[in-house]
Amino acid sequence: SSLHSGAFTWSSPSNIALVKYWGKKENQIPENPSISFTLDACKTTTTLKYSKKESGADFSFEVFLDGEKKDEFKPKIETFFKRIELYLPFLRAYHFKIETSNTFPHSSGIASSASGMSALALCLMSMENQLLMSSEGGKPLNDGFFTEKASFLARLGSGSACRSIEGDVVVWGKHADIEGSSDLFGVKFPYTVHENFKNYNDTILLVDKGEKQVSSTVGHDLMYGHPFAQERFKQAHKHLSHMIDVLKRGDLKAFISLVESEALTLHAMMMSSMPYFILMKPSTLEIINKIWAFRNQTGSNLCFTLDAGANVHVLYPEKETEQVLEFIKNELVEYCQNGHYICDTIGFGANLL
Ligand code: PMV
Repeated sequence: SSLHSGAFTWSSPSNIALVKYWGKKENQIPENPSISFTLDACKTTTTLKYSKKESGADFSFEVFLDGEKKDEFKPKIETFFKRIELYLPFLRAYHFKIETSNTFPHSSGIASSASGMSALALCLMSMENQLLMSSEGGKPLNDGFFTEKASFLARLGSGSACRSIEGDVVVWGKHADIEGSSDLFGVKFPYTVHENFKNYNDTILLVDKGEKQVSSTVGHDLMYGHPFAQERFKQAHKHLSHMIDVLKRGDLKAFISLVESEALTLHAMMMSSMPYFILMKPSTLEIINKIWAFRNQTGSNLCFTLDAGANVHVLYPEKETEQVLEFIKNELVEYCQNGHYICDTIGFGANLL
């Protein structure tokens, strides 16, 4: 089978972990299972243009962000291609033009690796599908397999990217309470999520838009030989069991405790590794304290979570949108760089455009 040239465009969202992935083994295998809300507004749109190569066995590609050539992105994509070529044997036979853009500002401190790597993985899967269909008597892949392999490939780009293919809640990593769960790809949460979580909000407060001082790759590696690693991995399993139950029952108070504990534990792992580091900023702590005070005063169900950076994700039910946004504008925006924050909600995964 062969194809001369063509293009595919996918748009794929970011996601926010409720139980965090921190620590991995060889081949992007997570040390513990994680669960996330897929986001809606924060996404990457990627067009993959491919054309058959005349000669040359090396990978051949160019990358553009918002129309600008980005050679600094090439090493990451080269590594990704090396990891996935075993599963996509056509990679070296084509030249690729990868054109990508994000809905959120590039230097916002929001990681674009989950949305970016999942969008690219999906474009490559569409290409594989096209190649299969163009061969003698070829049939397309079934949807379930397509999605699973896209998540599998995305994982090899950036671990958390495997949770961005589908929505609205995704589990990655083998866990006893989730049938079909795997360390190799994300699966959609197999139970009905309680209506309390319908259209759940995630307002992202951009505290620090600068480059991260410590990459998540370095952070994951510091879990090797970390004095608390084994306890942490056990705790993540327990937290996920509990979270599954909470999502089914709609217990918002239990949700808050679990989510905030997970965020602080993630950062506690960073602070207790060797070398140690701190990604929170003074404004991160100010925001956390304001959130706790507001919850005590009003009985609101808002809570915070953090990923590997200083920005704060404020999670809250749809019913409380007006009240919480008012609070954010009055009391939290002053801690955001240039007053910048992004309103997002739980979303339903990637789309072919
Ligand atoms: O996908 P990575 O390797 O960038 O790791 C992401 C890790 C966290 O965002 C901190 C947690 C998570 O589960 O998303």
